[in-house]
Amino acid sequence: MADWDGLRSRLEQCDQSHLLQYLDKLTPEQADKLYLDLNGIDFEKANQYFQKCNVNNQTCEKKDSCLEPLEKDSIGSTTRDAAKLVDWERIGMTQISEGKVACLLLAGGQGTRLGVNYPKGMYNVGLLSHKSLYQLQAERIVKLQQLACKQCGGDKAVIPWYIMTSEHTKEQTVQFFSDHAYFGLHKDNIMIFEQNTLPCLDFNGKILLDQSYRVARSPDGNGGVYAALHQSGILDDMKRRGVTLVHVYGVDNILVKMADPVFTGFCVEKGADCCAKVVKKTYPTEPVGLLCKCEGKYQVVEYSEISMETASKRTPDGNLVFNAGNICIHLFAVDFLQSVCCSHEHELIHHVAKKKIPYMVDGTRVVPQSANGIKLEKFVFDAFQFSKSFAALEVLREDEFSPLKNGPGADRDCPHTSRAALCDLHYRQIMKAGGRFLDDEDTELPLIPRRRQSVATSQGLCEVSPLVSYCGEGLEELCAGKRFKFPLHLSTDEKETQQPPMKKHCLDTN
Ligand code: UD1
Repeated sequence: MADWDGLRSRLEQCDQSHLLQYLDKLTPEQADKLYLDLNGIDFEKANQYFQKCNVNNQTCEKKDSCLEPLEKDSIGSTTRDAAKLVDWERIGMTQISEGKVACLLLAGGQGTRLGVNYPKGMYNVGLLSHKSLYQLQAERIVKLQQLACKQCGGDKAVIPWYIMTSEHTKEQTVQFFSDHAYFGLHKDNIMIFEQNTLPCLDFNGKILLDQSYRVARSPDGNGGVYAALHQSGILDDMKRRGVTLVHVYGVDNILVKMADPVFTGFCVEKGADCCAKVVKKTYPTEPVGLLCKCEGKYQVVEYSEISMETASKRTPDGNLVFNAGNICIHLFAVDFLQSVCCSHEHELIHHVAKKKIPYMVDGTRVVPQSANGIKLEKFVFDAFQFSKSFAALEVLREDEFSPLKNGPGADRDCPHTSRAALCDLHYRQIMKAGGRFLDDEDTELPLIPRRRQSVATSQGLCEVSPLVSYCGEGLEELCAGKRFKFPLHLSTDEKETQQPPMKKHCLDTN
């Protein structure tokens, strides 16, 4: 039985009575929906969140001045520490072969900048294979499992894949994986779960209505992962499977090295409970978070939370002082996750994102032209402050980071740049394995294309299926001494392998 009086008085106490303004115009079904929707909201908490956010905003400037950059020697580097890569990889492969490593994909974002009405992971950036981001990630797991079994023996090399979705992305993601037979992975090793949502507020802290009978809501940020892991039983699943290390990453980086054994080995060697991968930030306004320290604790400061003056500071040799760019790839020990989820989750603050939020005005749903309200989000990296042993690894941007944020036609972080980044990486891998490329006039192309232009832009596409090679390994036997023309797609596809391998693209062999 609906207790409308009780609800009305709770709303009055919290100054949110406007949420019932359309009640007498609703059908009985709509009124039931509204009741259920409102009854599930803790209005006092919503008000508290709003008040705290304002306080945090005011202190933002002060935080700016407490920030310290990371000392160069305090972080690992895949270039400076190149001599250690083999060891790190071996350690990581062993962990994988023992079933101790999992991946956790953060895929609950609404991807509004990309402008599609389906989950970003389903996006096809126009590779020769037309594979989606989800498929590339799945196949990298398939391949890495095979490599770990081969290198370390045993049959335990299963990398469980946890996928956090939201009410905006769950249904379509579940359907997509099912429609594609889980891209070769075992269905039981893919766990799709859902994060919570929070009501959207106007600038005065009033909850917005999306419809006369429905509150406007948005996912509670990628830091919502900690509450969701606990509530959905995923933490228990990790422990049941014997997982001890979890790679957490964003959906949109086409170059992401799933469960990267090098990163795994690096963290194990450092004895870290919490790690982040970073790339060198290239210019002050680049829209990436910055990994730095504040009062001795590691944290990421979003590009919107740091002043231009601090972001632009340079060292005497011309580099940016704050240059550890966060690429949203983190590695957490399960024990660390457990302590954050169970003991610290409530300490994570909400960040404010000013957004255009469709809302009801005089009985009509309006899609505003400028920001009219706020979404409250927790951030995944805000848990770094609870780490007892933190480590960071700097990796090469061209090998590991090319995010898809914007729609076609944008000049950065768009389908074109993602496609080009993957294509260039595969071009370099094939060259390194001893393959060569010819242009239209049959002239051999250099390793670094002239004027450092992308090969995808200047020549055409080339692509290596993750099922052929995880990150360049094993290409020698397919490519050494061979000369290729664009477009080139090295795949294990049955239709292609019916012919001699790669005949279609290969000009001559030794
Ligand atoms: C994120 C990082 C930023 C980094 C950049 C690199 C955070 C808070 N910020 O910024 O420091 O430089 O990536 O590309 O991590 N997501 C959810 N649920 C949500 C909101 C987001 O799962 O409620 C997921 C998204 O689907 C995505 C990831 O979190 O996979 C990052 O979110 P996004 O909005 O793309 O963050 P950025 O602002 O690009």
